Amino acid sequence: MFLVYISFTCLSPLYGSETKVLNEKYWDKREQDEEIHELSVQEALAEAIENNLLVEARQIIGQGKEAFVCWGIDYLDRLVAIKSYKLFRTTHRGVIHGSYRTSPYEVIKQFAKLEYHKNLYAYEAKLPVPQPYKWAGYSYAMELIGSEEGAAPLLADLPKNYFDDPTEILEKCVDVLHDMFQAQFVHGDFSEHNILWHEGEIYVIDFLQSKRFALKDAVHRNSPLIPLTRAYRILRRDLNAFLPFFSRLFRVRVNFEEVLEYILGDIKDKVDRELELINEVT
Ligand SMILES: Nc1ncnc2c1ncn2[C@@H]1O[C@H](COP(=O)(O)OP(=O)(O)O)[C@@H](O)[C@H]1O
Ligand SMILES: [Mg+2]
Repeated sequence: MFLVYISFTCLSPLYGSETKVLNEKYWDKREQDEEIHELSVQEALAEAIENNLLVEARQIIGQGKEAFVCWGIDYLDRLVAIKSYKLFRTTHRGVIHGSYRTSPYEVIKQFAKLEYHKNLYAYEAKLPVPQPYKWAGYSYAMELIGSEEGAAPLLADLPKNYFDDPTEILEKCVDVLHDMFQAQFVHGDFSEHNILWHEGEIYVIDFLQSKRFALKDAVHRNSPLIPLTRAYRILRRDLNAFLPFFSRLFRVRVNFEEVLEYILGDIKDKVDRELELINEVT
């Protein structure tokens, strides 16, 4: 009981009384051993409609373990994509506030809000991403990349011989990684599965794991920014995950270090300096 009280006290200044009520309901259910109810797609969409994220759902585009995406029309007659989080069972449990005592309903609410804000940061930095519209409940709404016919395809879904010059697409992707890094933003899951191809341009999606970073390693414990060399490692990982797609499918090969240097741009000196400092200490 004491722990529950602590967790409410920690949460309440941040999320207000509604959170407290939700958590209380959750813990009451837990105490009675009741099954936690996963929203069906229909229920999640009904909730999104009630929250004014859309007025008409047209088609499910993506069904993952953690979220599903559906497109439709919103009250301004725009084509929207709704990303709706599913109840969390394993991977991220306990991540929010490092507390296992947060209701899973609260966790996925936080995910929808977090991803909306990360998407918004990228959009405001003029990166090629969908325009985020609104978040509410377990979902957030953004611009549909596509048309009345449906969602644009992922790079991963395009046939092998689709591009006359795949090098051009690789260059576009590397340019986006460069612009992202210069905007002090790393994606964290940059791959052919999170890049859409629409009207001759690429669009990046899926931001929950993305991070904003500082231009140094020393960041305050409560800072929303991650240290520079951590961002650098994420960037290297993204590149490592993404370049093989081009060599495998299109036989386009590039020099990893050269590409990396281009993406780092003026920030390279700062990364080198921090890496040197780490080496001096260890
Ligand atoms: N704004 C969008 N416009 C068009 N299609 C989208 C949009 N957002 C997501 N999708 C589609 O939904 C799928 C799942 O979205 P994503 O954000 O990558 O979620 P997940 O976390 O399940 O990978 C994508 O692979 C893509 O096909
Ligand atoms: Mg994805």
